[in-house]
Amino acid sequence: AEETPHWRPAVRFAPARNWINDPNGLVFFEGEYHLFCQHNPHGDQWGNMSWAHAVSPDLVRWEELPVALEPDELGDIYSGSAVVDHHDTSGFFGGQPGLVAIYTSAGESQQQSIAYSTDRGRTWTKHADNPVIPNPGIEDFRDPKVFWHGGTGRWVLLIAAGDRIQIYGSANLRDWELLSEFGAEHGSHGGVWECPDLFELPVDGDPARTRWVLIVSINPGGPAGGSATQYFTGDFDGTRFTSDGSPEEVRWVDRGADFYAPQSFSDVPDGRRLWLGWTSNWNYADKIPTDPWRGMMSTPRQLSLATGAGGGLLLVQQPVGELAGVRANRRAWSGPLTEGGGVEFRGSAVDVVARFQLGAASAVGVDVFAGPGGRTRVGYDAAAGELFVDRTRSGRAQVSAEFPARHRTPLVVEGEAVELRVIADRSCVEVFADGGRAVLTDLVFPDEGSDRISAFAEGAGAHVELEVFDLAP
Ligand code: FRU
Repeated sequence: AEETPHWRPAVRFAPARNWINDPNGLVFFEGEYHLFCQHNPHGDQWGNMSWAHAVSPDLVRWEELPVALEPDELGDIYSGSAVVDHHDTSGFFGGQPGLVAIYTSAGESQQQSIAYSTDRGRTWTKHADNPVIPNPGIEDFRDPKVFWHGGTGRWVLLIAAGDRIQIYGSANLRDWELLSEFGAEHGSHGGVWECPDLFELPVDGDPARTRWVLIVSINPGGPAGGSATQYFTGDFDGTRFTSDGSPEEVRWVDRGADFYAPQSFSDVPDGRRLWLGWTSNWNYADKIPTDPWRGMMSTPRQLSLATGAGGGLLLVQQPVGELAGVRANRRAWSGPLTEGGGVEFRGSAVDVVARFQLGAASAVGVDVFAGPGGRTRVGYDAAAGELFVDRTRSGRAQVSAEFPARHRTPLVVEGEAVELRVIADRSCVEVFADGGRAVLTDLVFPDEGSDRISAFAEGAGAHVELEVFDLAP
């Protein structure tokens, strides 16, 4: 196929070549953020599953390193996580801190294995007694996420086990004991459960009031079709997760089509809870038209919990502050928006902030990647009370039958003011509204040179303050 450098993202990780899917082993250690991910080192389709590896000083500039983990006699290397073993509980590090990766060995059955690195993640040694959690007779048994639970002074591991999450505990990362299960009766079961995560967050920024958030990806059954990620809020006592919500309640972290298998970073030094996801969808991941790579990550996002209008807790996502550090070439315009639109800017890797006053308009928003062949429209539909991304005319939209679509999520607007933050990066659009309570992530494949950016309104009386920055790492 023809190479597609114009679709290579500016501020997120994509491999130089070949296939990637889920982020794995996200961890900060000795001044570096590590990003591992599912990878086929030998082709641009899923297969030969290995862990690719990249490092970054700032979550924005990623340097790809050699493949970290490759298949062995126990099978392929599926998704998993990594931790800093600060006190050498594992005994791998002669009393020093070191990195331990926990992953699924996918051979005749799915089992959990570990590997360790004594050289800041550059090389890895697989543990001699793998698997550390043999398959207990469950077909889908994968994607271990480990964290240190201070309250009980032990490691906790979550694993996706078909239609539920299993929780294990360990003193040393090698010997694991099953503690509890969650989920057979909760949430969406439109597909198999995958890639769990669990972390504690302050509520409304108050460190004295915290809740736990359980993350579960499912495929298929997502709100935009195919794969997507749901969350539960509740309590975790070190052994058991209890959900705040009713069993039927289903909440999605992102109702765009392309944010899957997100994982949070371990050991972030300033205590922020940060994550990123794979910007693709199992519905059409194998048909993504980029070349010579296929697959990329979202921009990293900071997570928080806020009390919603109904009193329930909402997961809030905002682009990490580091992204503002690579803004360049600020351009701004403010004025009334007639149906014909306002001033146009150009850019194919941009951070856009648009503050609208609605007036009598029925919709307001921003067109990005616009040119003769189409555009991607991001906006607020006042009648429906929804934030949307419309990629029906976004360039190469015939990736698959379901690709050309409009994706939406409820957006609460009080009064007249609507603020949108749009990260449009070559072949991806991420939109954050209502301070990060409403988020949509979509892949798009604009024609080369389709780089116009403008605000629009449908109906009269809208006003905009538009700011556009290039993303220039
Ligand atoms: C999720 C997933 C995981 C699995 C990995 C295999 O996208 O299916 O459950 O570990 O991909 O590549």
